[in-house]
Formats: sequence, structure tokens, C-alpha cells
Amino acid sequence: MKILVTGGAGFIGSHTVVELINAGHEPVVIDNLSNASAESLNRVKKITGKDVTFYKADIRDGAALSDILDKEKVDACIHFAGLKAVGESVAKPWEYYDNNIAGTLTLVDALKKHGAKNIIFSSSATVYGDPAFVPITEECPKGSCTNPYGWTKSMLEQILSDIQKADPSWNVILLRYFNPIGAHKSGLIGENPNGIPNNLMPYITQVAVGKREKLTVFGNDYDTHDGTGVRDYIHVVDLAKGHVLALKKIEENAGLKIYNLGTGVGYSVLDIVKNFEEATGVKIPYVIGERRPGDIATCYASAKKAEEELGWKAEYGIKEMCEDSWRFQKNNPAGY
Ligand code: NAD
Ligand code: WQD
Repeated sequence: MKILVTGGAGFIGSHTVVELINAGHEPVVIDNLSNASAESLNRVKKITGKDVTFYKADIRDGAALSDILDKEKVDACIHFAGLKAVGESVAKPWEYYDNNIAGTLTLVDALKKHGAKNIIFSSSATVYGDPAFVPITEECPKGSCTNPYGWTKSMLEQILSDIQKADPSWNVILLRYFNPIGAHKSGLIGENPNGIPNNLMPYITQVAVGKREKLTVFGNDYDTHDGTGVRDYIHVVDLAKGHVLALKKIEENAGLKIYNLGTGVGYSVLDIVKNFEEATGVKIPYVIGERRPGDIATCYASAKKAEEELGWKAEYGIKEMCEDSWRFQKNNPAGY
């Protein structure tokens, strides 16, 4: 299939472009490069040997989208484009609602007008809030989000579901990612955050490479096995493959589908530090700090539904996630 990949120059997008090409699909990337470098797509070419069609464009620009879709005649869209920094979203809610929600509405309108009523949307485990139970199944009620970023994901799930309900010729696949880490085995593409990383693994790799002095562990008094927060870390290549398999549901005209993409296993912050040190041989100095506002104790998936319905299962374990995150950071100490 010919697939419009919004945000395809970013972390998860670039890995998905590789897997789409590997599976014989034809990706067309649009990205405004607000949080990415076009170099990631040059690296994709090195990995796959294929040129990637790329348009520098903003999903809020309906005229640009229309021109691209007139030309490209895509079958479906995998929609990664969005702002994703939780703390920044608290300070800049308008920018998050404008970029993520207004952007998606503009995108959906353009897809509809071009007869490509098929979308796979990057949602997040954040929609479960402080989850009612773990492992989290897709039936777990959605919770109260603690920041505007989370609300954009929760609201966009609702908006896309309502659009599909009103017009069942839409296929809408909502993929709820848990905590993506790792990088492509080549070490050529990976996570490349601007400024001080918000997320745990890029912070750890920047400590390892000498860019940051030490990790601050946000609280060790949670009700978990060692007091630090537990999350379901998932290798980005596994996640990318989940999108390729989700295209099957579009081919089947499955309508609205929701899947968790996680491993089903929870690791604490200190488990991650230990696994990273063991996998890489690099020591990570850390201090215990205050809890981070909005954090929850425990979050991990039941990934059974994706296994049963998509035939998808995470293949990589935590050691490989750590090794692969480190390889990209070590090979690219200053990013792309
Ligand atoms: P990323 O920032 O690396 O990728 C997002 C891409 O979208 C970037 O390349 C950015 O330049 C582009 N973009 C942003 N706004 C745009 C706009 N208006 N028009 C065009 N391009 C735009 O982030 P990622 O980690 O690859 O995340 C991809 C998607 O997955 C996001 O929607 C994110 O919210 C979601 N998600 C990420 C995580 C995570 O922890 N990484 C977890 C759950 C969900
Ligand atoms: C993981 C654990 C922290 C940094 C966020 C978003 C979520 C999703 C994924 C997009 C927690 C601890 C972290 C540090 C630490 N993104 N930590 N020191 O918070 O589970 O999820 O990213 O959708 O919406 O909220 O991920 O990597 O920030 O934190 O101790 O310097 O590591 O407290 O327990 P989180 P994270």
C-alpha cells in the first residue's frame, strides 16, 4: 500500500518507515521538522537502500496536504505527527491543542476529500490515567489525564471514534503505545530529543555518553517492588512492526479497532538502570529525588489483544532495548 506517514522523520516514524519498506509498502513522509531532522530519512535510505518520498509540510496546512494528496494518491495514513513533551504541554496548552487536535482535524479532512479514509493513530497508555487495574487491557476505563498532552491523545481517540461511527467507511486503528525505547540495530536511527530529555532512557544514554552528570530518580516511595516507578518499555522496532501488522485491519475493513502495544512486563527505574549497566558495561550514577508531579506508580500492558488479532508480539527484551539505545547514542553523541 501507499502510506502517508505524518511525523515520519521522528523517532517512531522513522523506524516505521523502515519496516513499511521492508514489508513492501510505499511510505510518503510529511513532517514539519519541528522535532526532527531530515537526516533521519537519509539514514533510512542507508538502511533500506530505498529513497523515501519526503515533503516538509505541516499537518495544519490544509492546502499543502491537498497538493500532496492530489499527487501521491495514498491508500492510508499512519499519523505520528504531534507534539509530545508532557511538561511543555502544561506551559503551552494552546500550542498542543492547536498542533495535535487542529492538525489532526485538518489531516482527516484532507484524507476524506482524497478518498483515503484509513488512519492508524499514535495513541498512548497515558489515556488510562492512573489505571484502574494492571495489566491494562483495552477494556480498562480511560482515566483522567494529568496534562494537556495526554488530553490531546484522549480527545483525539474520541474524535476519531466519533468520525468512524458517523461514517463506517472509515477505518480507524488506535494504537496505545506504552514506553518506546531502543533503536534500529544499525545504530543509524534512534531517539534524538532536543534539549534536556524528559524520558528515562534518553536521559540515561546521555549520562552514559557524558552529556549529563547523573540521573535523578523521581521518587523511591511508590508502592512498587523497589519504590521506583514501574513501566512497560517496548522496543521501537517491535512497535514499528505493530503498525505494519495493523494495516491488515485496514485491508479487512475492520472499522474501529483499539490495541495496546506493550510487552506485558513492568520494569522499575532502578531495574532499567541495572539492566542498562549490565547490557553496556557503563555505570550510571544516580540520586534519588522528589516524585515528578503527574507520575503514577505502575503502568504495564496486557498485549493479548494485539497478539490474538494482529499476530503481533514484542520480540525484544530489555537487554536488547538497552544495548540498542546505547549503540545509537554512542554512534551519534551529538544527535543527527
Ligand atoms: P517525535 O517528536 O520524534 O515525532 C513526531 C514527529 O512529528 C516529529 O518528527 C515532528 O517534527 C513532527 N511534527 C510535529 N508536529 C507536526 C506538524 N504539525 N506537522 C508535521 N509534522 C509535525 O515523537 P515520537 O516519539 O516519534 O512520537 C510519535 C507519535 O507517537 C506522537 O504522536 C507521540 O505523541 C506518540 N507517542 C509517543 C510516545 C513516546 O514515548 N515516544 C508514547 C506514546 C505515543
Ligand atoms: C518513566 C519512569 C519516571 C526520567 C511519558 C509520557 C507518556 C508517554 C511516554 C507519550 C517514570 C522515571 C524519568 C528521569 C526518572 N509519552 N524517570 N528520571 O512518564 O511513563 O511516560 O512518556 O505518549 O505519555 O507521560 O515515561 O520515560 O518520562 O518515565 O526517574 O529523569 O522513569 O518517574 O517512573 P512516562 P518517562
